[in-house]
Amino acid sequence: MESRRIVILTGAGISKESGLDTFRDPDGLWARVRIEDVATPEAFARDPDRVHAFYNHRRAGLLSEDVQPNAAHAALARLEAEWPGEVLLVTQNIDDLHERAGSKNLIHMHGELLKARCLVCGAASPWREDMTGDSLCPACGVEGALRVNVVWFGEMPFEMDRIYEALAACDLFISIGTSGNVYPAAGFVAEARASGRAHTVELNLEPSEGSSLFAERHHGPAGVEVPAYVDKILKNGW
Ligand code: APR
Repeated sequence: MESRRIVILTGAGISKESGLDTFRDPDGLWARVRIEDVATPEAFARDPDRVHAFYNHRRAGLLSEDVQPNAAHAALARLEAEWPGEVLLVTQNIDDLHERAGSKNLIHMHGELLKARCLVCGAASPWREDMTGDSLCPACGVEGALRVNVVWFGEMPFEMDRIYEALAACDLFISIGTSGNVYPAAGFVAEARASGRAHTVELNLEPSEGSSLFAERHHGPAGVEVPAYVDKILKNGW
């Protein structure tokens, strides 16, 4: 059991109980604003101020006192610390709640809300205040060339080679708090299954689009299901 590898995928559902919005729930972000207006390269080219304002609002929300990692984030950090084999956490989320809970072996495949990327020098720098068309790049000092370091629709997610390698080699794939609507993440369960070795588990409030592809499913709030599942595998494996 000790050398067995675990890959975890998380989505917005794991941060819902921390007070952050999901995207496709009835009260989600895409019920209030159109993806085409704020989350594509074309939107940024057309109206950068509107895109800056959308992410400035989300950044300020993430940095507010009331938003803290929840029991699900803490359970995943504990799993990484206590599991004898490798645990890789791949998140679609752009919040920093996994880091704040203590997860270290972490890939933000859709980027990070608290980072700015410079269109001139390419540097990705920590960024916690509002970003505008006049903001200066912390690395090269150029004015007005910053964008939030997140992956927009139509752009390639980060570290895909490393993710696919880990999926092909894992013994357990756990998908948490994601609707299974957006590729490539929605295809990860099929990638994990292709090896013929991985056990696949969905922990989600309700069945996701790809629910039938999982060997095991537990439906309920992440704050309840994730700690329970982590306890189970730390004690008895799977
Ligand atoms: N506990 C567990 N799951 C929950 C909870 C909760 N408390 N609340 C909601 N969920 C589930 C919902 O049932 C849904 O299946 O979380 C999922 C959230 O789905 P989405 O809103 O589609 O979010 P996500 O899957 O992360 O979206 C993927 O799409 O818009 C893009 O880039 C964005 O990273 C995002 C990607």
